[in-house]
Amino acid sequence: MTKQEQLYEGKAKKVFTTEDPNLLIVDYKDDATAFNGIKKGTIVGKGVINNKMSNRLMQRLEKAGIPTHFVEELSDRETLVKKVTIVPLEVIIRNIAAGSFSKRFGVEEGVVFDSPTIEFSYKNDELGDPLMNDYHAIALKLATREEIETITNYAFAVNRELKAFWAECGVTLVDFKLEFGKTADGTIVLADEISPDTCRLWDSKTGEKLDKDRFRRDMGGVEDAYAEVMKRLNEHI
Ligand code: TMP
Repeated sequence: MTKQEQLYEGKAKKVFTTEDPNLLIVDYKDDATAFNGIKKGTIVGKGVINNKMSNRLMQRLEKAGIPTHFVEELSDRETLVKKVTIVPLEVIIRNIAAGSFSKRFGVEEGVVFDSPTIEFSYKNDELGDPLMNDYHAIALKLATREEIETITNYAFAVNRELKAFWAECGVTLVDFKLEFGKTADGTIVLADEISPDTCRLWDSKTGEKLDKDRFRRDMGGVEDAYAEVMKRLNEHI
């Protein structure tokens, strides 16, 4: 399968059509943005790490019964995926208070929840991805009640699998963002990526941040953090 036309360029990836109308090629960039694109930079080697990490994790999730868009890794930065229509919801699962949750509710980062939380944001850059509930999503016809139930069940299942896997790697899965898509026949599958761009990953022993917060918060050591989580994943997968 080869790249035909560029369909879309996002903040971190480009998407291309292929000879097969049901398949696309995703090409991961080293570009990094934060705060809805206001902060821009480069994380050298990030595209390779995010591509490989996302693929490894999605293959693992498939084995656990969660359908994903993953088809085949084509190169260091390129992956063949099923063509989907993205459900315009950012689905966020949290195990520990951090980031916007801590800010919104005045809770210190690091407070561990008794059970995970789920929240939805409307995936809309112009509006700044506003937080919404399931009723809002249904009213705006972003998804049906049934689709939201499927997405919710998959999202918590992803959390169970990934939390356990990262724990084996000595990494605490604090929170993460998922996106889902619909294939031509209407099947909901996990799409987008799972990487240090989209997860908060803390070293289980030291609490050191091993994710994009190092870029968002100008902490330095960004490339090293991405390389460290990839190394741990490779040792345990
Ligand atoms: P938040 O605490 O800023 O709401 O982020 C929650 C999780 O979602 C965190 O793991 C980072 C991830 N995330 C994205 O993947 N994309 C985004 O645009 C934002 C704001 C967060």
